[in-house]
Amino acid sequence: MTLQEFLAELELFASEANRCFQAAGDLTALEAARIEFLGARSGRLKQLQKSLGQLPSVDRPQAGQRFHQVRREVESAFQAAQERLADRQKTVRSAEVFDPTIPGVRPVVGHLHPITQTIDQLKEIMGRLGFSLADGPEVEDEWHNFEALNIPPDHPARDPLDNFYLAAASRLAGGAGPSMLLRSQTSTVQIRVMERQKPPVRIIAVGRVYRPDTPDQTHSPMFHQIEGLLVDRRVTMADLKSVLRMLGMSYFHGEVHIRFRPSFFPFTEPSVEIDMNWQGRWIEMGGAGMVDPNVLRAVGYDPEEVSGFAFGLGIERLCMRQHGIDDIREFYRNDVRFLRQF
Ligand code: PHE
Repeated sequence: MTLQEFLAELELFASEANRCFQAAGDLTALEAARIEFLGARSGRLKQLQKSLGQLPSVDRPQAGQRFHQVRREVESAFQAAQERLADRQKTVRSAEVFDPTIPGVRPVVGHLHPITQTIDQLKEIMGRLGFSLADGPEVEDEWHNFEALNIPPDHPARDPLDNFYLAAASRLAGGAGPSMLLRSQTSTVQIRVMERQKPPVRIIAVGRVYRPDTPDQTHSPMFHQIEGLLVDRRVTMADLKSVLRMLGMSYFHGEVHIRFRPSFFPFTEPSVEIDMNWQGRWIEMGGAGMVDPNVLRAVGYDPEEVSGFAFGLGIERLCMRQHGIDDIREFYRNDVRFLRQF
């Protein structure tokens, strides 16, 4: 082979290799081209290298120089092709992964506890009837839990066995001074509000109350009450019954009837038990009555000027009746298989 022939072969090799590398449509085709042109054992470059060795020694420096130039060019053409294809494959793959038209995977979010849902609904309904939300502590003194509610010291409701008295909290509040207890009813908030505020009063209070009852299907030592209090001029039991009926109908989404049965609470006179009838069944929901004049006097109101009604309903009872739940203990077990249903 002459020098001229060798150089011509070299140019042909370069142009064909470049063309093939550029034309390769994917990495597999490119690899085939690489083996053909640059393959270490029998690639065309390797053949040219052998031919180079057979050239007359005078021609070798010139041929060798060109040979090395061409090798560098072709190798970098191969690298450029490789990068181009790798880039394209990357964009193809990421386009597959991010398809904005596929619906996303919803994260698992929980929801409010059924008791909280009921509380929210009751607040909303009573808010529409003009009742604002009042609050009081769960650790109470005897004045708000008993005394101001017309429950004298010798009343059986104050029996230590019927209440959670708190020795430590009582000591903090002044040693031999007032005893503290976990409130046994939300009626405490009636007093707290009336002590602060002049009539008219139109509030609800929602929260936990505590009584040392042995847990069973219908009892729990902790449960929730909603308390309502309305004090104004010429308030009557007809107002009480209307408000309770509207509350019941809004909560149960249907016809609800209210029945009053005579009862006794030290802080209301007269006092009644409230039964609600929804879908043909009567259920006792709580107690109510006209605020006792002694209570009005205890907070500095004039019973000749104003009158009022108060009621207290069991929130668990409302929620159980609404959903057909038959065991109050389910609310506090926190088994998601139960909770998930509401
Ligand atoms: N506090 C009473 C109870 O827990 C219910 C009640 C509230 C009764 C308001 C009359 C007026 O049983």
